[in-house]
Amino acid sequence: MTKMLLALCMLALPCLAAAAGGPSANHKSVDHGKWLVGYGGCNDCHTPGWAEHGGDAPKDVLLTGSGMNFQGPWGTTYAPNLRLYVHKLTVKQWIANMRALKARPAMPYWTFRYLSDKDLADMYAYIHGLGPAGKPAHAWVAPGQPAPMPYFKMVVPPPPVQPAGH
Ligand code: HEC
Repeated sequence: MTKMLLALCMLALPCLAAAAGGPSANHKSVDHGKWLVGYGGCNDCHTPGWAEHGGDAPKDVLLTGSGMNFQGPWGTTYAPNLRLYVHKLTVKQWIANMRALKARPAMPYWTFRYLSDKDLADMYAYIHGLGPAGKPAHAWVAPGQPAPMPYFKMVVPPPPVQPAGH
């Protein structure tokens, strides 16, 4: 009996792992992914109108990019459309990308370090489940180049003037 149970578990485990984040991702994964995206504040920047509407948006607008854009010494950055981004990736690629991500401001890429691979897979399941929608966000604009509005502007003080002879 124990042997049979053991065999059943061994059969079931890979299936469960495959389900997490795959096309047949279960409700629990999707709900947890939605929770992570909500509490992780991803909508704040990646969903247009999110902050203006007190943290709300129609489903077809969720995570379609350019909710908040930023200008500073790094140039101008536009929060990408995460639905199109995730649509092109497998769950494995998404996890690898999030582990390696180094983005410009104001993307808080370091927050992914607090998430397990399962958390990231659940996040993928939720975003992937929303389906592709919207247009790609504007590409990064180099410092000093004209950039389309709207964006938040970071004003930094000029570097200190070095006294002559130094
Ligand atoms: C404060 C604003 C802000 C928040 C919050 C935020 N992002 Fe971003 N995100 C950005 C911006 C701006 C960029 C573009 C950075 C660049 O151009 O280098 C970006 C880039 C990304 C990218 C890179 C896409 C690519 O093409 O490489 C991913 C993936 C991403 N964000 C996912 C997330 C997720 C998931 C969350 C929630 C946990 C999140 N972001 C929260 C602003 C934000």
